[in-house]
Amino acid sequence: MTEAAIAVKKINFGWQSQELILKDCSLEIPRGEFWMLLGNNGSGKSTLLRILAGLLSPQSGECYVEQPLGFVFQNPDHQLVMPTVGADVAFGLVSENLNWIEKRDRVQEALSAVNLGGWERRPIYALSGGQKQRIAIAGAIARHCPVLLLDEPTALLDPDTQQELVEQVRSLVKTRGLTALWITHRLEELDYCDRALILERGQITKQGTPQELKTYVSSVSSA
Ligand SMILES: Nc1ncnc2c1ncn2[C@@H]1O[C@H](COP(=O)(O)OP(=O)(O)OP(=O)(O)O)[C@@H](O)[C@H]1O
Ligand SMILES: [Mg+2]
Repeated sequence: MTEAAIAVKKINFGWQSQELILKDCSLEIPRGEFWMLLGNNGSGKSTLLRILAGLLSPQSGECYVEQPLGFVFQNPDHQLVMPTVGADVAFGLVSENLNWIEKRDRVQEALSAVNLGGWERRPIYALSGGQKQRIAIAGAIARHCPVLLLDEPTALLDPDTQQELVEQVRSLVKTRGLTALWITHRLEELDYCDRALILERGQITKQGTPQELKTYVSSVSSA
């Protein structure tokens, strides 16, 4: 059996004095797979991803994610902090005590991995939304993250760029043996994942192949 890169066991989470958003919520994602997470607005998807990323702590339950992990936000302007592409990708490496050649090589390799090789000197403000998302992913690749968590990374992209990004992430997962969990509302993106999950009433109520989930979601929304 493949080992899980992400494992959540019976976590409970609620904002103060409110009812629980996540109730006995459990899931497991095997290493090397690309999974997607679906669910209605407000169902707790972003909350779950923030718990996986260690940005929030559950009130109870266990949560394991291989480290270091890379997190990609819906809006890349909330994520990219430096003025140029090269400086931004290198920013995540400050804690690693690399010499400048090692750092340069990591940045170069990560940018090539997202098909933006040689873009080090480009200013961040001049990038498109899709390019910014790829820089955010390059930051995680440069840090050698085995796990990528992506919260609706295509929500602000046009359809062509959306498709390029989801293809890119699938290819990174498959060529590098990464594990990725990607939140989406767009059913057409499901075709690129290995398996998908639905979060409802605080729990994973359904998981299956892209086709199984598409059939389920269509039957629920037409009911
Ligand atoms: N900082 C916060 N304080 C209090 N409640 C919050 C906070 N952030 C989120 N919530 C509430 O928690 C619930 C789950 O929110 P969450 O953002 O996880 O949903 P989501 O599934 O990601 O929704 P969407 O599809 O709209 O992104 C919602 O009812 C939301 O209002
Ligand atoms: Mg959300």
